[in-house]
Formats: sequence, structure tokens, C-alpha cells
Amino acid sequence: MTLRRGIRWVVRHGLVRRTVQRQMRAGDLGSRLMMDPTIRENPFPCYDELRAQGRLVRTDLALLSAHHDVCLAVLRSPDFGQMCLDQVPGILRLGMRLGGHPVLTPIEPPSMLVVNPPEHTRYRKLVTRAFCARTIAAMRPRIEQIAEDLLDEIAQSSADGPVDLVSRYASLLPATVIAEMLGAPVAMRRQFLDWGAGAALSLDIGLSYRDFRRTELDITALHRWMLGHFADVRRTPRDGVLSSLVAAHDQGDQLTLDELSSIAMLLLAAGFETTINLLGNGAVLLMRHPDQLDVLRAQPQRWAGAVEEILRYDSPVQRTGRLAQRDTEVAGCPVKAGSFIVVLLGGANRDPAVFPDPHRFDVTRPEADQNLAFSSGIHYCIGAALARLEGEIGLRALFRRFPDLALTGTPHRRPTRVLRGYDAISVRLTSPALTATSAPSALHPSEQG
Ligand code: HEM
Repeated sequence: MTLRRGIRWVVRHGLVRRTVQRQMRAGDLGSRLMMDPTIRENPFPCYDELRAQGRLVRTDLALLSAHHDVCLAVLRSPDFGQMCLDQVPGILRLGMRLGGHPVLTPIEPPSMLVVNPPEHTRYRKLVTRAFCARTIAAMRPRIEQIAEDLLDEIAQSSADGPVDLVSRYASLLPATVIAEMLGAPVAMRRQFLDWGAGAALSLDIGLSYRDFRRTELDITALHRWMLGHFADVRRTPRDGVLSSLVAAHDQGDQLTLDELSSIAMLLLAAGFETTINLLGNGAVLLMRHPDQLDVLRAQPQRWAGAVEEILRYDSPVQRTGRLAQRDTEVAGCPVKAGSFIVVLLGGANRDPAVFPDPHRFDVTRPEADQNLAFSSGIHYCIGAALARLEGEIGLRALFRRFPDLALTGTPHRRPTRVLRGYDAISVRLTSPALTATSAPSALHPSEQG
């Protein structure tokens, strides 16, 4: 390990890792939620336990909430924001300086995800229009075409054998769409996916040194590629969001090169890292709940609602966090300035106060669109309309092309905690003999709430 990377790891993950592991052994629920491998597989009983303990639960680590109204209030309140460097405790701040220039992770400034206004407003304004509902709706035919092409390739090459739905479809669909939209080379989509998987790890706390090193190397490689691509775009302007970002930078929009690259990397990686989970989680849920698939076959107008239910039931982003910027109150609970609240989006989405019988997967659920899967407030997901469209088109096309699609084993959960999805889903494309009563379609323990 290089000395500086070692210091960066200790400050950002090593110290937290030791503390959380100690607290976890002592039974602290918040710490178990962050690092316990069994809870990663099935966090929902833990969310229920926390919700039963209170609206805002103080654990050794932070304040946590799995209540829908509390999470919503925190996300929308101007009294809460992201943690700035000058709010980091002194000794850690010193460590951060000694660790040298950090790589541009999605969870450190200047990432749009973690900056407060006015920077946040400035960054977001640059890209809002490209992701507005009308622009995204116009992409429908192209996304349908991409989905059909990928399904053709799968059908031609793998009619008999098992197929990994993640590597062949759930990852390639959003990676192709976002690469085209940004004006990045589609031929590099597998490389982007590889770098994105490394970057995705950085969202979790308490990483091992090995994972931390991977995130740094992958993000650095993506950043280098991005800088080269900007130079290319300058020489030969082309369509796409990246070109307009470069133009904004060159026309004196007061963006530094790091800010420019950070926005571009976030758009690229967020564009597929989360939607892979929506497609993968959705495909597995529908294979395990054939009765729900039957509802969609009979009433295809329900597909948009089904996507909301998938987002609610198995949220691709399980949590986020906010720091109280001043003494305040949330949902009747006093909160001191500097308190960190872990907003459990996946827990809020199973809150029985909003979603009756919350552990039941029901594509006809009328209140499914109350889910907080895309967060709320000023950081509400910029790509929500795109993700919803990709989810609907992608899943609908998959089950239309392969009506007998069935699991051939237990899908493999990816190792991330903030992001919840699968990194491998082995399926059989045609299986007339396999019915809803066979073993792989049975409910998985993690779905029994
Ligand atoms: C199912 C798919 C997706 C889910 C569940 C999801 C979820 C989220 C969530 C929860 C946040 C806010 C986090 C917070 O409040 O701290 C967020 C922000 C963001 N998402 Fe998504 N996302 C998805 C797809 C996309 C796509 C396709 C893009 C396309 C570029 C995208 C780009 C972004 C960006 C740029 C932000 C930062 C917005 C800001 O800070 O103002 N996301 N997303």
C-alpha cells in the first residue's frame, strides 16, 4: 500500500470499520445494518425492528429512521444538508490533508450528490434539461430497439444453455442507453461497467483496504479516460450531454476540470449502476411471483405501476444520509446541529403506515408510487424518468420475448450495501416443463419479511 493511500483508507474507512465492527459485536443495530453480512442479504426484519423502536432511533453510530414520514421530512428540510469538509472532526480533517489529493469519488465534493447549494444548484442546472420528462419520453423507441437487439443476441447465442441475465441484459441495457445519451463510445460499455462496479463500492462505509484500493484505481482510470474524452470532444464536437458540459466549461461557466469530470462520471456511473439493480431485482421478483406476471400479461397497462412496486419492494438504493446544519426538529423529534441521520429508504418503503401489508409484492398496489426509491428534496434523482422508462421497457420486453423465463439457481447478491441488487442471475430461457411450483421459483427467505 502506498503511504498516502494507506492514510486515506484509515481516515475514510479503517477507523470507522474498527468502531463499527466493535459495536456490531456488542449488538448495536445501526452498526449491524452497516456491516453484518446476514443483514445485507435481508435487511427488512432489521428495518422493522428499528421502526418499532422509534421514529428516530439513536444508535452508537448515528440517528436512524425507517419511518416514511420522518425520512421524507429530513430529505425535504432545508435544516439538513450534506457534510462539508469543515464539519469533519479536527483529527480526521488533518488525516484527510495528509492523505493527499483524494480521487473524485461520488461521495466527496465536488460530487453533485454531496454538495449543498449554491454549488449544488450550479452543477444540477447544467444537466437538468437533458433528463427532463419530455426529453426522456422521446427516447422510448430507441430504448425499445436497444432492448430488442440485446434479447436477439441472447436468443441466438444461448437458446439451450443457462444465461446470466445481469451480464447479458440488465447491465448492458442501461450502459448502452447512458453511453449513447452522454455521447460516450458504446463499444466501451463493458469497460465502463467494470469501472462503475469499482466506483459503486465507494458508496459503502468501512471498506476493506482491498476494496478501497479497487475503488481508487477504477475511479482514477475513469477520470483519466474522461479527461482524454473531453479533449477529443473539443477537437471534434459531437452530440450528447458530455459535449454540452465541455462547452459550458469552455464558455467560462466557472467549472473547474475536476468539477466537470465529477459531474460526467456521476452521470455515467449512476446511469447504469442503479438501473442494473432495478432490472435485476424486477426480473427475479417476477420470476418468483408468477401470479404477478400473470396480472401484467392480462393488464399490460399496469407495467408502470409494477416498476414502482419493484422500486418500493426491493429498492436499488437502500439508504442515504443527511447532517443537521442547525438545531432543529423533525417529525416532532428534536435534533442537534451536527447530528447525522441515516435515512433508510428501503425501510421507509416498507413502512406499514403508508404501504399496508408492506412485505407483500403486489404490482396492483395503489400507493406504490409513494416510494422514496429516488429520494426527495433537492437531491431527488435526476435520472428517475430515465430509470423508470428503462425499467418498464426492459422488463416488459424480457418477459414478452421469453415467457417461460425461469431461474436455474439462487441469484447472487452483489457485495454492496447502499446499492441492493444482483451481480449474477442464472436463467433458462425456455422451460416448458418448469412451472411455478418448481423449486427455483419458490419465495426466497429474504422476501418473507
Ligand atoms: C433505478 C434507478 C435509480 C435509482 C433507484 C436512483 C436513486 C437515486 C437516489 C436515491 C438519489 C439521491 C440520493 C440522496 O438523496 O442522497 C439519486 C441521485 C442521483 N441520481 Fe439516481 N437513481 C437511479 C437511476 C439514475 C439514472 C439512470 C441516472 C442518470 C444519469 C441517475 C443520476 C443521478 C444523479 C446525477 C443524482 C444526483 C442528484 C443530486 O444530487 O442532485 N440516477 N439517485
